Amino acid sequence: MPISLSDKTVVITGASSGIGAELAKIISKTGASVVICARRGELLAALADEIGAAGGQALPIEVDVSKPDQAAAAVRTAIERFGKIDVLVNNAGRGICASVEDTTPEQVESIFAVNAFALWYTVAAALPLMKARKSGHIVTVSSVVGSMGYPFCSAYVAAKHAAIGFHAALRTELLETGVRATLICPDGVNTPWSSVTEGGNYGSLFADGIRRSRIIAKERNIPLAPLSRMISAAEAARIIYEAIINEESPADIYTHLGTHERAVAAVRCREDVEQSMLPAFLGVKEEYESRKHYEQ
Ligand SMILES: NC(=O)c1ccc[n+]([C@@H]2O[C@H](COP(=O)([O-])OP(=O)(O)OC[C@H]3O[C@@H](n4cnc5c(N)ncnc54)[C@H](OP(=O)(O)O)[C@@H]3O)[C@@H](O)[C@H]2O)c1
Repeated sequence: MPISLSDKTVVITGASSGIGAELAKIISKTGASVVICARRGELLAALADEIGAAGGQALPIEVDVSKPDQAAAAVRTAIERFGKIDVLVNNAGRGICASVEDTTPEQVESIFAVNAFALWYTVAAALPLMKARKSGHIVTVSSVVGSMGYPFCSAYVAAKHAAIGFHAALRTELLETGVRATLICPDGVNTPWSSVTEGGNYGSLFADGIRRSRIIAKERNIPLAPLSRMISAAEAARIIYEAIINEESPADIYTHLGTHERAVAAVRCREDVEQSMLPAFLGVKEEYESRKHYEQ
């Protein structure tokens, strides 16, 4: 039996665009109070207005979740305003487009800060009350790249692996506390994510690399890499919503067909997955190198 969110408080980070914004819209229709968090206050204000006009309730909080004090203060504000947090969705994230050797120390830190470190900041602030109430739900949005490698975004891949490690450890601490933890691992979702990556546009690098991969596969007479169909932000948000309202949902959710199998295969034998993805990875490598050559 799906749970009702009508009297619940749901905090969503990274709610100013993409998956987080769509999730806020869906959840606000249930009667829940939605707390929408991100850095771009003007987008949050517009979303809060849209939700309000549709009869829902959203509290915008402008916050950089990669800053420990700001992240904890945002959680405290939500608790002060609504008395509790029932669901905390850690969705804020940002990618990068850079080879290992082109990734600066500042980029490593900033990518880890938002995709991994922020998880501790918000959850540490929200958990004491959830544990005391023996009720609550922490949702962590990682990625399919949290279980397998992808080229030219190593800081993001490593940070999303860290997010899965965080979720796994958190679950062992939450056993028999009444607090749930769910991991969401999307593959490609049509959002601004791929064009706001640090160091350049990863989406266009990947798209052009895939075009090259078709030629590579033909020349080498090997199958094309098994890529998932892109889904919309609304589709991804709907999957997260279903996971929130269905207590029997799996704890680890792969939003795209075939990606769970690829993640499991990567844990069993990374080389097998690399071989199956070879044309794609080589195509992206060719494209990255040709862009660097052009820049020089
Ligand atoms: N799109 C995909 O293909 C894909 C695939 C796998 C996983 N994911 C993950 O899904 C999540 C949502 O991404 P999306 O696709 O919806 O991308 P998006 O539209 O770019 O949304 C990212 C959100 O994160 C927020 N954010 C970034 N840095 C922040 C910070 N320091 N503090 C607070 N908020 C911050 C952004 O808001 P502000 O800029 O306003 O702060 C924005 O609201 C991310 O964790 C992403 O890594 C996406």
